[in-house]
Amino acid sequence: MTGNFYDKVAKKFGEYHTRARYIKECIDEDPEVVFESKLFEVATPEKIALDVGCADGRFTLSIASYFRKIVAIDVSKEMLKSAKNLQQKKRVKNVEFEEQDAKHTTFKDESFDVVYNRRGPSNHKEAFRLLKLGGCHLQIDIGEKDCQEIKKVFGRRQGYGQKDESRLKKDVEKLKTIGFDIVYAKEFFYSEFYPTYQDFDLFLQGVPIFEDFDSKKDRKFLEKYVSKYSHKKGIQLQRHRVVTVSKKS
Ligand SMILES: C[S@@+](CC[C@H](N)C(=O)[O-])C[C@H]1O[C@@H](n2cnc3c(N)ncnc32)[C@H](O)[C@@H]1O
Repeated sequence: MTGNFYDKVAKKFGEYHTRARYIKECIDEDPEVVFESKLFEVATPEKIALDVGCADGRFTLSIASYFRKIVAIDVSKEMLKSAKNLQQKKRVKNVEFEEQDAKHTTFKDESFDVVYNRRGPSNHKEAFRLLKLGGCHLQIDIGEKDCQEIKKVFGRRQGYGQKDESRLKKDVEKLKTIGFDIVYAKEFFYSEFYPTYQDFDLFLQGVPIFEDFDSKKDRKFLEKYVSKYSHKKGIQLQRHRVVTVSKKS
């Protein structure tokens, strides 16, 4: 995952959203809803949170009123620019956007009550250092089976060929080794359906499934995938997410 890719996305679309249309169909719960509700369970108006890899800050700004303050970091200058613009529009005062690398931040030990990561870079060790005793780390991560079929058709990208390594197991083991107590850990499988080829193409331009995705050069792969995975509901993409909540006790 590179800041450079996200700089390009922010420059092209002005935000971390391509406006591609899709519908989501979850087998049980929606992992994004679960992640958000877990975050609300630990949020109070006294607490300070760190958002790791905030991108255009849309999510950060939407939950800011649940905390005293959120410090939101990212390495993409362009995403941070979009985030600050959105903050001005939304007139949210208790969020500070900063350019910082998640792995080596400049914050002091035990600066935060909550550290969360919504599909951002993994930073378990740094999160442990930054959390106060009793503080919580929440993460929604991309599972190893995410977009497996399209990666097979394209023959490349993001974790391709690593499908046997369980992301859930890996995350839990890493968190425990660092010293966290696991409060919650679950994986989720769901589908997205894109109504048209154009929507699906647009979606792929804004996500790092293939950072080098090129609508023209990759047309043959895309057409192959679309013909194989088109249903009544649209072009199907299978997703896999892992949600963990852990505590520094
Ligand atoms: C999938 S996006 C995150 C989306 C965002 N959290 C949300 O809820 O919409 C990943 C973000 O992580 C950022 N990122 C990647 N590596 C990073 C690092 N080492 N430190 C901080 N941010 C990083 C990228 O620039 C990008 O904006």
